Amino acid sequence: MRILSGIQPSGKLHWGNYFGMMRPAVRLQEQGNAFLFIANYHALTTVQDRGRLLQDTWEVALDFLACGLDTNRTVFFRQSDVPEVHELTWLLSTVTPMGLLERCHSYKDKLAKGFAPSHGLFAYPVLMAADILLYQSDIVPVGRDQKQHVEVTRDIAIKFNNTFGEVFTIPEPSIPEEVAVVPGLDGQKMSKSYGNTIELFGSAKETKARIAKIVTDSKGLEEPKDPATCNIFALYKLFATPAQRAEMEANYRAGNYGYGHAKKALLAVFEEVFAPFRAKRDELAANPDYVEQILRDGATRARAAATVTLDKARRAVGLA
Ligand code: ADP
Ligand code: TRP
Repeated sequence: MRILSGIQPSGKLHWGNYFGMMRPAVRLQEQGNAFLFIANYHALTTVQDRGRLLQDTWEVALDFLACGLDTNRTVFFRQSDVPEVHELTWLLSTVTPMGLLERCHSYKDKLAKGFAPSHGLFAYPVLMAADILLYQSDIVPVGRDQKQHVEVTRDIAIKFNNTFGEVFTIPEPSIPEEVAVVPGLDGQKMSKSYGNTIELFGSAKETKARIAKIVTDSKGLEEPKDPATCNIFALYKLFATPAQRAEMEANYRAGNYGYGHAKKALLAVFEEVFAPFRAKRDELAANPDYVEQILRDGATRARAAATVTLDKARRAVGLA
């Protein structure tokens, strides 16, 4: 079973990215042959600053490797190290109906956020389809907001196969049910574009300051509280063990437990889970040549798989 996912290097990774995509992808690597890449071609649709793109690409590599990615099992690479993806993008775009792209939420969202309507932004899902199909992926672990893009990929693959013969595996999205959407500081979806994130590898001081900003209701210390409607608890339960979760629920219901207490407990449980990742990240950051080598090895392995599919697709359409 081939598992594949990608993440854009368009800012610091946050808790939503971790629970929505990184942790599920890391867990899935046990179950099959995983490919994971840093989608820097995609990031160019919104990040048009050389220094920032290079820096963010590097940071995402460190973050992923620190959070449990096993490069013996997983092929980890930079999207731009496999430029074959663009040839496939073109072949796919010739069977992609305009209407399919016009319906994509993410394009409309980006315009609503003020990005200029470039062709790259519009064609983004076709490049994503090429990422997925180039590696004959069966399963694509992504957060819920990317589900539509995987559906578009399926439609394109079916259309291509019907037109030119069976070339592509039809992929399935894999959405983590228990944490489909991680809430941000204000309770809406945690997203860098809403400025409501908590970074994975911010300093201890920054993390504490962000947690302090989590919005709650104004119930007093002594009043019993409802964990089900509290943003702090929604985040706490992602990191907590079942026993820790049950204990906090009981504290909420009993009263005399304030939101300040809950925020402290959230910081503690996050630090506990992330301490080993932080240590690993520091070690990697001190060894850039080693990290670069991992990415290059990944690209070599990815490219070998990519050329097989591309060759098949070229033959199917009549280019070879
Ligand atoms: P952002 O919304 O911060 O721009 P991206 O769109 O780059 O994040 O998302 C990268 C990956 O992380 C995607 O698979 C996405 O579904 C997942 N993801 C991002 N934010 C969340 C969230 N709040 N909850 C669950 N998954 C998320
Ligand atoms: N569009 C995805 C995101 O913003 C990133 C991505 C690019 C991706 N290509 C992919 C995810 C292929 C899964 C499979 O999060």
